[in-house]
Amino acid sequence: MNKIRVAVLCSGGGTNLQAILDSAAAGRIPAGEIALVVSDNASAYALERAKKAGIETVVADKKEIPDRAERERRILAALEAHDIGLIVLAGFMTILSEAFTRKYDHRMINVHPSLIPSFCGPGFYGLKVHEAALSRGVKVTGATVHYVNEVCDGGPIIAQKAVCVEEGDTPETLQKRVMREAEWIILPQAVETVCERLSKEREI
Ligand code: GAR
Repeated sequence: MNKIRVAVLCSGGGTNLQAILDSAAAGRIPAGEIALVVSDNASAYALERAKKAGIETVVADKKEIPDRAERERRILAALEAHDIGLIVLAGFMTILSEAFTRKYDHRMINVHPSLIPSFCGPGFYGLKVHEAALSRGVKVTGATVHYVNEVCDGGPIIAQKAVCVEEGDTPETLQKRVMREAEWIILPQAVETVCERLSKEREI
């Protein structure tokens, strides 16, 4: 089979990246090959995880390159140089331009820590999503994997998994549960599903 070369874009701890790397190492992403990790934060722990797994890394640091268009140019050049077929946004904290998202139409996916369309869109990222869910008093939240288009968190949904809110939850405890019970499961599965589709399309 024609493996799809995957790039994972991260800004922080990279636990979702780790879930993908572990799944790939366990043979659960046969249609894909994790070929590159990109970060917009030079001190992201995700970069260490990539190095430990022997994956090439590229940094387009926000502080060093404050202009988003310039960062996107560098990222695009790296993606093209590595012949990337699928981009995975795994805790990547920059909203990408419409021109960028159009280039990777149905070839870029994102994991979001809520059940879209709740608690999503500009301003909803990381712990803020869980703070908003707790202040609204929802009893069920979860995670979503979706294709990325020009609307922030607005692309077609690929997978969702619900997670219960528990009495006494803090944003931190809820974030951990959503990661463990939803994100780390549905993201690697979605990577395989999309790689399989892209690989079949190549064969046609
Ligand atoms: C994850 O919970 C991810 O869903 C979220 O940031 C966290 C990154 O953690 N992403 C967003 O909020 C994007 N809107 P990680 O670096 O440990 O994977």
